[in-house]
Amino acid sequence: MSVATEVIRTAKRVDRFTYAIRNIVVEAKKVEQTGMTVRYLNIGDPNQFGFLTPPHLIEAVAKAMRDGHNGYTPSPGIASAREAAAADFVARGVNVDADRVLITSGTSEGIELALTGIVDEGEEVLVPSPTYPLYTAVLAKIGAQPVYYRTDHTRDWQPDLDHIRRLITPKTRALVVIDPNNPTGAIYPEAMRRALIDLSEEHGLVILADEVYGDLAYEGPVPAMAALDNDAAIISYSSLSKAYLAPGWRAGWMAVGSSPRLDPALAAIKKLADGRLCSPGPMQFAVTAALTGDRSHQVTFREQLRERAQLTTARMNAIPGMSCVAPRGAFYAMPKVDLPPGKTDVDFVLGLLRAKGILCVYGSGFGTAPEDGFFRIVFLAPPVQLGAIYDDVAAFTQEFLGH
Ligand SMILES: Cc1ncc(COP(=O)(O)O)c(C=O)c1O
Repeated sequence: MSVATEVIRTAKRVDRFTYAIRNIVVEAKKVEQTGMTVRYLNIGDPNQFGFLTPPHLIEAVAKAMRDGHNGYTPSPGIASAREAAAADFVARGVNVDADRVLITSGTSEGIELALTGIVDEGEEVLVPSPTYPLYTAVLAKIGAQPVYYRTDHTRDWQPDLDHIRRLITPKTRALVVIDPNNPTGAIYPEAMRRALIDLSEEHGLVILADEVYGDLAYEGPVPAMAALDNDAAIISYSSLSKAYLAPGWRAGWMAVGSSPRLDPALAAIKKLADGRLCSPGPMQFAVTAALTGDRSHQVTFREQLRERAQLTTARMNAIPGMSCVAPRGAFYAMPKVDLPPGKTDVDFVLGLLRAKGILCVYGSGFGTAPEDGFFRIVFLAPPVQLGAIYDDVAAFTQEFLGH
């Protein structure tokens, strides 16, 4: 018979773990309970807005299941998927063979495996501000320290190299580069990418190159970062989630660059991967289908994203007290409201949610200062719906700023 009455205590690491994109949904549910409809612009999931997974990928998964591929796979992934991912990297100028590729449960697992395999407790990792928040969340979990480097909205959200240089300490282990970027939609020119690689090499860091939106730049795919310097310590990753419209499948890949300096990291990542057995098996067959098959859906998708990006930028910049840098890839924009003194980005976002039923994510959930007034919009909804949503954003902003 049980006699204890105390609640089960939770781990302190959870206090440091936040993921605003989903955490804020609790607030939206409260608003829905009042009878108001909420329009969700918080999660970057194209399928929720009517974009469809290419049929040949669905067929590859269905066939794999019918053919009996429903058991565990080798931990680094099935050979054909690793070979397809390696060949895709090679086609993009990255010299990597299949032995250095792992198939992961999305880019997310690649991020977690790389950070867990490389960074010790108390060590530091440079992450962009604003950043995709999984980096800071995983670092919190492993007891390491995220150190934000500035990306500058007055210069098209480009990284501030001097700031990065000043932040490097003997404890710094890695530099996260997200290009094209979530949440800003920025793309970095080759000179910037080279400068980031040079800086990283100069200080013996590893670059974590998050290329999940690599094929979704509106002007066409951006080159792989590792292609600029195959001798540099770069770990690259991507997935089927965004450019192949299958985020729920949890299918991604990572390549540990061919520099021998990364051999221990590759061994560590493989060792960790053994412990989680494998990523979803049938979906690995879709990786092969995606990377060796027809990608024409991306042409249409990029055009649709460009149109929505233009609409979003134009409408946000037309609101008095608001400005927005034009995204050049992916499906996010990061407008800025000139907040009155004492107000924060959370006040603005929660106000918008409660007054108009529109859910965005506050910039501070991505690492910007609360008083800077940034918030992120996911602009995957059809343009007509976006137009109506932006009418409401404009009306609310006018009220909020007292214009
Ligand atoms: C920059 C970035 N990296 C990684 C991820 C995670 O993607 P995946 O579904 O491949 O795990 C996302 C998802 O939004 C993202 O925006």
